[in-house]
Amino acid sequence: MNKVEAIIRPERLSMVVAALAEEGFHGLNTAQVTGRGEQRGIAHVGRAGQSYVVDMLPKIKLEIVVKDQDTTRVIDIIVAAARTGQVGDGKIFVLPVSSAIRVRTGETGEIAL
Ligand SMILES: Nc1ncnc2c1ncn2[C@@H]1O[C@H](COP(=O)(O)OP(=O)(O)OP(=O)(O)O)[C@@H](O)[C@H]1O
Ligand SMILES: [Mg+2]
Repeated sequence: MNKVEAIIRPERLSMVVAALAEEGFHGLNTAQVTGRGEQRGIAHVGRAGQSYVVDMLPKIKLEIVVKDQDTTRVIDIIVAAARTGQVGDGKIFVLPVSSAIRVRTGETGEIAL
């Protein structure tokens, strides 16, 4: 199993969740985060001409634990739904998961996903 951790634009969350659900991936977790990438935030010019930098931008972190064999498909779904082509589209990390347990039944492993 792998945890796919995707940092995406907040305005793309509903499209990503819908695209995952359409392919049968329902269980997931989201959190509001702030972060920065290569551009280290963005520079703005205010109305009075003053410039300022917002160095942490709001993003959504979406976590979804999937079977090994579903990992590539889930990544492809997220990329397709989250991409605008502009800087700041986000990033995806893949982490190995050693176990999963469904609390209600005690089931373990992939069956618990
Ligand atoms: N190396 C990293 N580790 C953890 N989180 C990261 C990392 N890089 C980016 N992030 C998170 O992903 C968000 C989006 O990053 P972003 O898409 O701007 O990446 P980038 O590398 O700058 O690519 P781009 O040039 O397309 O903007 C950041 O705001 C931050 O929350
Ligand atoms: Mg960036």
